[in-house]
Amino acid sequence: MPDEKTRNLPWWKRTTVYQIYPRSFKDSTGNGIGDIPGIITKLDYLQDLGVETIWFSPFFSSPQTDHGYDVSNYRDIAPEYGTMADCDRLIQEIHNRAMYVVFDMVLNHTSDQHPWFLESRLSRENPKRDWYIWRDGKKSGGRKPPNNWKSMVGGSGWHYDDVTDQWYWAQFLPFQPDLNYRNPDVKKEMFDTVRFWLNRGVDGFRLDIINTIFEDEQLQNNPFAWKLFPSEEDEKSLFQNKIFTINHPDNFAFVKELRSVMDEYSDPERFLVGEIAASFDTLKKYCGEEVDKNQTNGLHLVFLFQSLNANLNASTLRNIINKYEEYFNEPYTPTWVFSNHDQIRRISKLGNDLVKAKLNTTLQLTARGVPFIYYGEEIGMFNHRLPIKTAQDPVALRFRWYHQLLVNLLVRDGSFSLNRDDCRTPMQWNSSLNAGFCPADSKPWLPAGARYETINVEVEESESDSLLHCYRNLLRLRRNTPALHSGSMHVLEQPMNKKTLLTYERRHNRQVVQVWLNLSNKPVQTDDAKGKRSLLFSTLLDSKPLRATSIYLEPYQGIVLELREGDS
Ligand code: NOJ
Repeated sequence: MPDEKTRNLPWWKRTTVYQIYPRSFKDSTGNGIGDIPGIITKLDYLQDLGVETIWFSPFFSSPQTDHGYDVSNYRDIAPEYGTMADCDRLIQEIHNRAMYVVFDMVLNHTSDQHPWFLESRLSRENPKRDWYIWRDGKKSGGRKPPNNWKSMVGGSGWHYDDVTDQWYWAQFLPFQPDLNYRNPDVKKEMFDTVRFWLNRGVDGFRLDIINTIFEDEQLQNNPFAWKLFPSEEDEKSLFQNKIFTINHPDNFAFVKELRSVMDEYSDPERFLVGEIAASFDTLKKYCGEEVDKNQTNGLHLVFLFQSLNANLNASTLRNIINKYEEYFNEPYTPTWVFSNHDQIRRISKLGNDLVKAKLNTTLQLTARGVPFIYYGEEIGMFNHRLPIKTAQDPVALRFRWYHQLLVNLLVRDGSFSLNRDDCRTPMQWNSSLNAGFCPADSKPWLPAGARYETINVEVEESESDSLLHCYRNLLRLRRNTPALHSGSMHVLEQPMNKKTLLTYERRHNRQVVQVWLNLSNKPVQTDDAKGKRSLLFSTLLDSKPLRATSIYLEPYQGIVLELREGDS
């Protein structure tokens, strides 16, 4: 198993996670779709990059209508991605490199092509009927949905099926019917599926929309709310306060049960990270209560999405850190997420500015918590605006007709996209046609992104001040510095005239490390830097931030310092 250097914190609290969207990482067959054998050829790259855990978006059997988030067999691999033997080899090869592997579990819903759903819809008496949520419609002839519940993506989440003259519930898109976890057989089957993968060596799971597992049994209508667009902080959107469909109280007991399944396994410990949009109080509740100095009894981690759209300024980031520390102090652990397969890539929210991207990364990899890096983030892949006409993303297709209107309303600053294809373009390995993702004469499932000829692994390997090297240096530093992977976190006060500076201290035993981030377009100099300090890292290679009695930071420069004994 992976080699443990320090045993102070469980491995999953110290780790760094890299997300692979399998369809877009590396195609080994030339069919334009990434696959498992392709990923295996790139594991050395990831090991060398210095990430410690790899999370795979789903590659289980699926009609791929939502590119794997619509599963039709949880215990098999979609043929376009490979075979079960490839999957076993992937797990083995990752472990051989002392890294960990996380799969993506879509417990909330299946594909409508899953044999369970095909059976369920056959008749009201079918043994699988109650595996999904079926109800009579309202009003004349049941022609209206059972209640006012809206799906996450808009419109009623109820879908009429004339075979049995009833409606089924789908929290996401219509082809993703929700499983009914009030049926004990469903829960048993899915918990056994989790065990199936744990037995094959999987070290953890990312849990897709785990906050929508249960809905109100009485089907009470969701109350009205004055809010149209969803946000990360609450359940309100589309003029509904979705208290009966999102973050239902029964979810909290469910995640604890799931946690106890994970706790059946040890050496190494396995972990869960939940995809949840909610207030800090609710997010913390999903993690359960403290059971000892290192552990709680719910989800090990939840994604904290508050950082996704955070402006790169000191007060915003200081507030976020302080909130994370307030709510997720030990034994809770924050997470640091800036991009994923549903979001606009972070660098594009920073104006595709490399200097800012390096600063952002310095924060992500030095703050207390588990960082989640999205493939291509380490080379600064831009978000690629693709035409809606050729969209493959089912969410984009749903909004196809009023897409332009929404874009005009919302996308003025480039921070909103309805087409998730934009952030899923092929990994950029080199400057050849198709960016080395697939052969030059193949057609990739999505075109290579903007400026792939210069923004790619091969080019950035050869440039010492590339973003890739910045990630590599920071990941290495974090791994070798206990204060960074396991230390406490404390935001330092700055004088009023230095408010664009964000500084924090990480401590572990006698080691003290400080992170200084200049979040402004002007240089900043402080005169309070006395004592012996050594520079561990700088986002700018040729600068001299440590002066005799001061610290001088260029615009948007970030540095990491170690304070020598007696100087803290
Ligand atoms: C959240 C996932 O991140 C997204 O990609 C997917 O489409 C939905 N859940 C439905 O599974």
